[in-house]
Amino acid sequence: PFGWGDDVRDYIRTIPDFPKPGIQFRDVMPLFGHPRGLRAAVDRLVQPFAGLRIQHVAGLEARGFIIGGACAHQLSAGFLAMRKQGKLPGPRLAQSYALEYGEAVLEVHDDAVEAGEQVLIVDDLLATGGTAEAAVKLIERLGGEVVGAAFVVDLPDLGGRARLERMGVAVHTLCA
Ligand code: PRP
Ligand code: HPA
Repeated sequence: PFGWGDDVRDYIRTIPDFPKPGIQFRDVMPLFGHPRGLRAAVDRLVQPFAGLRIQHVAGLEARGFIIGGACAHQLSAGFLAMRKQGKLPGPRLAQSYALEYGEAVLEVHDDAVEAGEQVLIVDDLLATGGTAEAAVKLIERLGGEVVGAAFVVDLPDLGGRARLERMGVAVHTLCA
C-alpha cells in the first residue's frame, strides 16, 4: 500500500469505518514507524520554526507525544506534555473542549511554562481544532506565547485551521 518515497503521504493510510461507521481514519502510525517517514515528518514540521527561540514543544496526548517529542529534540527545545484528564501528578490547569459527543479535558502542569516563553504546539492531526484550541488556551493561561501549531495531517473540511487562525495562531500542516 505504500510508496515508501519522500512524501509523507506515502506513509499515511486511510482506514474506513474506524472508530465508527462512516469515519475515514487517517492512520499516521506507518509514517512514525518508518525511518525515512519519521525523519521526513520531523524535518518538515519544524522547518518554518527553526530560526525561532522556542523553549518548549507542546505535544498533545497521545500521538502528539511521539511526533512532538521528536520535534522538540530536533529544535533543541524541551517537551511539554498536554495530557488528558487525570494523568498529571502535580498542580495543574485544566481546559475543557468539545468532542463530537460530549466533552473532554486537557491538562498541563501549572509550572510547565514561564511567562514569556515561546511554545510550539505539535500534533499528528488537525480536525475540528478543539484539542489544539484547548492547548493554546492552557499555554496562554500559563503566560506562554504560542509561536505556531504544526500538524502532519489537516482535515480542512472540519475547520480546525480557520479556528486556530482566528485565534491568531500560525498553522503549519504537511498534507490534507
Ligand atoms: C486525535 C488527534 C488530535 C485530535 C484532533 O486525538 O490525534 O489530537 O484528535 O481532533 P480535533 O482537531 O477535532 O480536536 P484523540 O483525541 O483521538 O486522542 P489519541 O491521540 O489519544 O488517540
Ligand atoms: N485520524 C486520527 N485522528 C483523528 C482522525 C483521523 O482520521 N479524526 C479525528 N482524529
